[in-house]
Amino acid sequence: MEQRRPDIFFWTWSAQRAASRVSITGSEACHFITEDGHRVFDAISTNFQAAFGHSCAPVKDAIHRQLDAMPVANPKHAFELKQRVTQKLVDFVAAGPGRVFYALSGAEAVENALKMARQVSGRKLVAAREKSYHGATMGAMSVTGDWRGQGHFGAQDATIRIPEPADDPDLMKTREILRAAGTENIAAMCLETISGMNGVIIPDPAWWRGIEAMCREYGILLVVDEVSCGFGRAGTDLAMHQYGIRPDFVCMAKAISAGYVPFGALWVREDVARFYDDRILSAGLTAYAHPMGLAATSAVLDLLRDEAFCRARDAVADHFAAGTVKLRTHPRVKSLRVKGLMAAIDLEPGPKVTWEDGVALGIHLAIKSDATGSSSIILAPPFVMTVADCDMMFDAISRILDGGAVP
Ligand SMILES: Cc1ncc(COP(=O)(O)O)c(C=O)c1O
Repeated sequence: MEQRRPDIFFWTWSAQRAASRVSITGSEACHFITEDGHRVFDAISTNFQAAFGHSCAPVKDAIHRQLDAMPVANPKHAFELKQRVTQKLVDFVAAGPGRVFYALSGAEAVENALKMARQVSGRKLVAAREKSYHGATMGAMSVTGDWRGQGHFGAQDATIRIPEPADDPDLMKTREILRAAGTENIAAMCLETISGMNGVIIPDPAWWRGIEAMCREYGILLVVDEVSCGFGRAGTDLAMHQYGIRPDFVCMAKAISAGYVPFGALWVREDVARFYDDRILSAGLTAYAHPMGLAATSAVLDLLRDEAFCRARDAVADHFAAGTVKLRTHPRVKSLRVKGLMAAIDLEPGPKVTWEDGVALGIHLAIKSDATGSSSIILAPPFVMTVADCDMMFDAISRILDGGAVP
């Protein structure tokens, strides 16, 4: 058989020859349009970022207006939009006084949290979970626990791994691990509030309270990663609001700009941020506080303050939860977890479920497989999907699980 010639751009997270591809020509509402004219429902909001769908008029309008008014700025420029959006973001984080460092991606938000936590504390180690993903830059990858962090040079030597919440609900093992490493050497814990692509793992509130208490006890800074679960995805503005935790750093990206322009932000607690008042903050990027990102974020924050919008989102989230729960009795379903508009469906062993199976039935979903061979379907549909979209998605998933994937 003739081998496929690799493309001249790289495919992410894939062997280049084997990379799966779906060619698209456009997108609208909650759908991609494929080359052959089919509409494919975006059941994973592209990669969690298209939470407001593909045709969100308020976000598009804000970007268009900003493009005309001022499309670019220097990182050191002060302007009204920057002041206004930063205040809105600090209010949205709702964790007390804080300051914002802007980024262009989740990885950069994490990267800068790690840099600051190490500098402020004067300590080197960072504790992170085993099943975690924090980004593909060298620092963010070194705290990533899943396969994507393996096999690269980075700061892995300065990372200590703590168990998954379910494997250590009372945090006894975690405490032992921290003590063995020397708690006085640990700068921070870097943790997804609720993990997304790694299986929508929803820690127990007691676990989170224990983590926060342990951080305070040992003077360890707490970095929460809200890149996937934030901005309304888990049913609250940020997932951390459900746990009542008061972190030192909050990493945000993806839906912060509806995914329409690359953007990210790092919120830093005021008393931590003060460290830099008279010391140089040696961090920055050319597109820092980019006006297009700020404009998109402003529109996103307004939508999340719009009661009618949130009511509609919550109603479709209830329908989504009911649809997910109905799958529980399917023989291929081992377990499932749902929170807001994100869900993981863990599969019993059986025929392999692929991304292409979903596309053939008109849905774009994510399949997560691990080294043990177990796999899960991950769903994170747009907040603006209709009930009909939702029903069609579950119908397609049932057909995939029945083994009748490709029509
Ligand atoms: C929880 C979490 N943190 C960080 C990142 C990295 O974000 P980005 O791909 O924008 O760098 C991701 C991306 O999937 C993520 O899911």
